[in-house]
Amino acid sequence: MEEIKKRKLTFKVFRFNRETDYLPAYINYELEVSDSEVVLDILNRIKWEYDGSFSYRRSCRHGICGSCAVKVNGKATLACKDRVSDLVEIFGEELTIEPQDLKRAIKDMVIDKSPFWNNYNLVKPFLEATIDEAPQKENLVKPEVAEKIDDADYCIQCGNCYYSCPSVQANPSYLGPAALALAYRFSSDVRDGAKKERLEIVNEMGSGIWDCVKCYECAEACPKELDPIGKITKLHQMTFQEDMAKDNVAVRHAVGFKPSIKKHGLLDEGELVKYSEGIPGVLKHVPTAIKMFRKGKIIPPWKMPKSRNLSEIQKLVDIASTAKFKGK
Ligand code: SF4
Ligand code: SF4
Ligand code: FES
Repeated sequence: MEEIKKRKLTFKVFRFNRETDYLPAYINYELEVSDSEVVLDILNRIKWEYDGSFSYRRSCRHGICGSCAVKVNGKATLACKDRVSDLVEIFGEELTIEPQDLKRAIKDMVIDKSPFWNNYNLVKPFLEATIDEAPQKENLVKPEVAEKIDDADYCIQCGNCYYSCPSVQANPSYLGPAALALAYRFSSDVRDGAKKERLEIVNEMGSGIWDCVKCYECAEACPKELDPIGKITKLHQMTFQEDMAKDNVAVRHAVGFKPSIKKHGLLDEGELVKYSEGIPGVLKHVPTAIKMFRKGKIIPPWKMPKSRNLSEIQKLVDIASTAKFKGK
């Protein structure tokens, strides 16, 4: 029988008990680890071999319940899915295991996830439909219509996207990628009757889709690869299709690409700032603009070149423009 290869690794593990500790501590555990072991095996072994009071969440061990999410060297990880050997390849042999959010730690890896769940509840995370209690036939949904829901249904509510999102860190009122992906899931369901109501909720400035900075961290963090930012983009599109896009700086910033591309075939950064923030916005950004200009990152309006085949680009912009905003 082939011998299982093992290597000695040091795991630096976050330990904290909110009831007794003033500050957290990091404890080192040295373990012989085989290539097949996942992070959850390490958590189990720390508990079983070193300290029975070590706390973490887990249930299914099959990437379904979403409860075992932690961070390893700052990377969002589903403990029962991610192999230690793969993490060693990325980070080397010293691995730090921490809860998803240090500020919300209750005990070791266990955190208070109530803000995450509260945001879920805010987006009406259920289907609103009139149900015929005694239907004569099945309520069939065509596959191409069901496909619109996409993979949004596969979310396991692990929170990896939420706790990796810089907008959530900067603004706790932001609903976050998981709740918004769920809002998309129900808003794109043909049986649902609360689409407009849900879009009103996610369309709020300060908490909704316009507060996403499109960094793609959520897509990177999601163990189910369901691309929350892609769903947020689809919600943006829905607000235009439903004529619900409001005249605010974020919406104008999204729309401002179109006149610029139509005029030059290229993005004119200065024009985009003027379109979305007006003259006061332009004045506010002058010091940054000067720095960018010196580094060759922006072109002054009078030197803005035109793309080759501009007339073709203009036709494409017209064909692709299905949603209107302020009549444009
Ligand atoms: S893309 Fe948007 S939702 Fe996703 S992590 Fe970045 S800011 Fe958050
Ligand atoms: S979208 Fe992905 S990362 Fe976010 S909670 Fe759902 S499964 Fe987890
Ligand atoms: S234990 Fe259920 S997803 Fe990891």
